[in-house]
Amino acid sequence: MDDAFIEGLPKVELHLHIEGSLEPELMFKLAQRNKIKIPFKSVAEVRKAYNFSNLQDFLDIYYQGMNVLQKEQDYYDLTMAYLKRVAAQNVVHTEIFFDPQGHTSRGVKFETVLNGITRALEDGEKELGISSKLIMCFLRHLPEKDALKTLKEALPYTDKIYGVGLDSSEKGHPPSKFRKVFKKAKKHGLKLVAHAGEEGPPEYVWEAIDTINVNRIDHGNRSLEDKKLVKRLVKDETPLTVCPLSNLKLCVVKDIKLHPLKKMLELGLKATINSDDPAYFGGYMNENFKAVASGLKLSKKDLETISRNSIEASFLKKKEKKKLLKKLKAYMDQTANDPAPKAKVKLKAKA
Ligand code: ADE
Ligand code: ZN
Repeated sequence: MDDAFIEGLPKVELHLHIEGSLEPELMFKLAQRNKIKIPFKSVAEVRKAYNFSNLQDFLDIYYQGMNVLQKEQDYYDLTMAYLKRVAAQNVVHTEIFFDPQGHTSRGVKFETVLNGITRALEDGEKELGISSKLIMCFLRHLPEKDALKTLKEALPYTDKIYGVGLDSSEKGHPPSKFRKVFKKAKKHGLKLVAHAGEEGPPEYVWEAIDTINVNRIDHGNRSLEDKKLVKRLVKDETPLTVCPLSNLKLCVVKDIKLHPLKKMLELGLKATINSDDPAYFGGYMNENFKAVASGLKLSKKDLETISRNSIEASFLKKKEKKKLLKKLKAYMDQTANDPAPKAKVKLKAKA
């Protein structure tokens, strides 16, 4: 697969933890600005520490990294840096997670986090032409009562927060633990998503769809172990927000050549490609697309399907989805007879 085709492809990201886009360079800058001590001497030393055996290994470093985020401007800078990176990769729409409990537990105000992120999202739309939605995640290793408290804090801001999600340590923390808080969020008109089947068993995916009634599954890899579950996900067209480089880095797959994405597409699952925590896992959207395109020998048609799945699985309005589908079709037509489209195929940032 030609890299230039992937670079020019209009893409939508649906699984991105904004705290996971904190590059070591910005971590150092913010540590200095806020006079926070970090246990690393150099950027190279930080990158060397990013060697994980499983999800928990990563989460321990991820929560430590967040400590440098203190002021509204820090959240703005973090979000704007991500938007600039992905706008340059032809990402036209992004749905971003944030973990308020990772900040409020350190004494940072909920509003400080929310205002910094949303101000950048607004500027990103105006200046870079990238549209976005914000999704607030509950940390599943904490009790449901903490999630309920967080939801209460968020309810005055449902104009800024579009949905809720569930992340952090999966094993031992099934979706059913959060039945009440998801029910309440739905009552307030919020969309629902949850990480399930990343490390946890297929039963957690069943619970995500049947007990907490999510609109999308984040990851969902282990769904493939249960034929009945696959049938149900295909029938309901439940989107899976798959994260190839994350799966590789967290040892969910041993080799990118063994990644289940192609199998998911063959089974008719609505799979999408996303970056999860790009600063920690070695790549943003283009790098994830390139890794699986080459590792799994994906065709242009496969990549078009993935991009179309993401547009359809997004929380955009019908009219906005139509506009992006048209843009995708125009790109496919434009590159149809070009075996090597090279960098000359570059879409304008604005939709
Ligand atoms: N928080 C950030 N990245 C995560 C992931 N891949 N799984 C669960 N929680 C996360
Ligand atoms: Zn994730």
